[in-house]
Amino acid sequence: MAYGLLKGKKGIISGALDENSIAWKVALKAKEEGAIFTLTNAPIAMRMGEINKLAEACEAEIIPADATSVEDIENLYAKSMDILGGKVDFVLHSIGMSPNVRKGRAYGDLNYDFYKQSVDISAMSFHKFLQTAEKMNAINEWGSVVALTYMAAQRTFSFYSDMADAKAMLESIARSYGYRYGKLKNVRVNTVSQSPTKTRAGGGIAGFDSFYEFAEKMSPLGNASADACADYVLTLFSDLTKMVTMQNLFHDGGYSMTGVSAELLEMIKPAE
Ligand SMILES: NC(=O)c1ccc[n+]([C@@H]2O[C@H](COP(=O)([O-])OP(=O)(O)OC[C@H]3O[C@@H](n4cnc5c(N)ncnc54)[C@H](O)[C@@H]3O)[C@@H](O)[C@H]2O)c1
Repeated sequence: MAYGLLKGKKGIISGALDENSIAWKVALKAKEEGAIFTLTNAPIAMRMGEINKLAEACEAEIIPADATSVEDIENLYAKSMDILGGKVDFVLHSIGMSPNVRKGRAYGDLNYDFYKQSVDISAMSFHKFLQTAEKMNAINEWGSVVALTYMAAQRTFSFYSDMADAKAMLESIARSYGYRYGKLKNVRVNTVSQSPTKTRAGGGIAGFDSFYEFAEKMSPLGNASADACADYVLTLFSDLTKMVTMQNLFHDGGYSMTGVSAELLEMIKPAE
């Protein structure tokens, strides 16, 4: 059911790779809620062509941009403002990639060129999105910027490797830029810390399926789906959350506040 939450709002949605992507669900729901927006992804991701289906469904134009390139991001904002007829009200950063994780490098055996790429793609790109928007005055007063993150920024998960460091930086950027952009233009900046979700990025992590089941059993509400995540992100783009900024918001079915669940205790019960 749509509520018209984003009626009249303009935005930019990054990171829709295929129909499992969290950003894909955000785009479909943002359209349902009355927003107009552009879609963006890395030029290399465009080759799969899947995003064209989403663009058609959302009547949205696609502007390729490598999130590590300031020039690409400048072009993204300039073209978006041109296409949408003015500044934007919301921006979704749904971008993450670690070559170290992809290649199964242990945390004690990181390749430092890969490490730089992980940080550049998954965290510094968020600063680039924000700084470029500020310099181009591309976001309307009371606009909202959201990035997706994971709880490995606060607690150690053995398989998350250098992505944990990138996510910690991403969340720090949300606080630091949230302060700055709040003072300047009342623009709010938040991160949403999502449950493990079966997407391309999620599936790139060794042992993901077992961890998905573990988190499902730990969370009183179960793992939050990508669809539910999209619903939550839309509330943050809407005018109903105007005073929420600089926050890392857990969207995880209660996982982050659970010490241990009855189901897990039952599973590891020693033999009588
Ligand atoms: N899947 C999970 O379990 C999970 C959990 C918590 C948070 N997240 C976060 O959600 C976000 C979206 O991931 P997803 O799970 O929907 O997976 P996904 O693989 O569908 O999306 C990741 C996106 O990042 C894009 N990307 C990679 N390098 C890029 C670059 N240089 N420039 C521009 N875009 C680039 C990819 O093309 C892809 O569209 C990521 O930040 C991820 O870390 C995912």
